[in-house]
Amino acid sequence: MLLRSKGIIGLDVGSRHIKVVQLKDVKDGYQLERLNIATLPPELIVDGSIIDSPRVVEAIKGLISESGIKIKDAAISVSGHSSVIIKRISLPQMTEDELNDSIKFEAEPYVPFDIDDVNLDFQILGTGEEQNKMDVVIVAVKKDKINEYVSVVKESGLNPVIVDVDLFALANIYEVNYESKPGGNTALVNIGAGTININILNSGVSVFTRYSPVGSNLHTEAIQREFGISYNDSERLKRGESIEGIPKENVAPAVNSASEDIIAEIARSFDYFRGATNENDIHEIILSGGCALIKDFASLLNEKIGIDVKIIEPFKNIQIPENFDKANLKKMGTIAVVALGLALRRLGDR
Ligand SMILES: Nc1ncnc2c1ncn2[C@@H]1O[C@H](COP(=O)(O)OP(=O)(O)OP(=O)(O)O)[C@@H](O)[C@H]1O
Ligand SMILES: [Mg+2]
Repeated sequence: MLLRSKGIIGLDVGSRHIKVVQLKDVKDGYQLERLNIATLPPELIVDGSIIDSPRVVEAIKGLISESGIKIKDAAISVSGHSSVIIKRISLPQMTEDELNDSIKFEAEPYVPFDIDDVNLDFQILGTGEEQNKMDVVIVAVKKDKINEYVSVVKESGLNPVIVDVDLFALANIYEVNYESKPGGNTALVNIGAGTININILNSGVSVFTRYSPVGSNLHTEAIQREFGISYNDSERLKRGESIEGIPKENVAPAVNSASEDIIAEIARSFDYFRGATNENDIHEIILSGGCALIKDFASLLNEKIGIDVKIIEPFKNIQIPENFDKANLKKMGTIAVVALGLALRRLGDR
């Protein structure tokens, strides 16, 4: 009870932005207390690995002190195909307690690593199509990867009490803000600097997940190549700022060609979804992550894939106090969806 009222913060350590969110439980839902973002130089976290932990620790400490957050308990997340396995499997009917006791044994055939090297979790989805069977989602995360993130968070003076997976935090913030549509599939697509995370939901239940190791860094690199400029200048151009000697309108071809590569990757994942499942088609894409802020990205995605694209609205059901700058918060919210989803976690949640 004491822990619950004290609450926890959501902390998403991305390769470009570290986001921190504090929510308050109010009578009819949630209220945003704090949302802050720190920008990292590109060499600290590469391909999901923390290369320079002292500087990441400094960045987290700076962000926490700047945001004025006093809470130490944090929900954090990991992402990455090589260290996270999510599978939907069919098991004999049993209770949650029984599965808790046998999860290691049941999951072993599906996990391509030594079962002692992973942390396991599961969620029972309900009775399966076969008699006496049930559908279960199992999640295995390499302990190495968890430890890598847990140690920087601990060194920053925080207490990582929950370790989640990006994809689930994304579904979490979606659920709070949207009604699940019975029947149709909704694709939650989060595109960061170096990752694409896709979680396809059917009637609110995750039916397909996929991770790709590319992201909006492709835009930065394409602009850098085109004009022979620095990473930082390229990041500015990408956000729509101007740079001396390079008119904004000259940037569009490089941006669009990188967008097309990212979209081709999403299309491949959707094809894989259609091939791997018997589900009906996807009727909408809910887009988030920094890439969603790239001018024309959402409309190009819609045009190329032919599916309705909406940029996520993470604050539909979260109250915003007057002192927040609404326009700025809209952009920050798009980037901070995973941290928002993490901030919704409560101790004892499964
Ligand atoms: N207007 C914008 N403001 C901030 N970032 C933007 C904007 N437009 C595009 N971006 C890009 O979005 C990316 C950062 O998005 P995000 O914060 O979601 O990534 P991340 O979580 O740090 O990365 P990852 O999860 O892939 O490690 C960067 O490549 C950044 O350049
Ligand atoms: Mg991210």
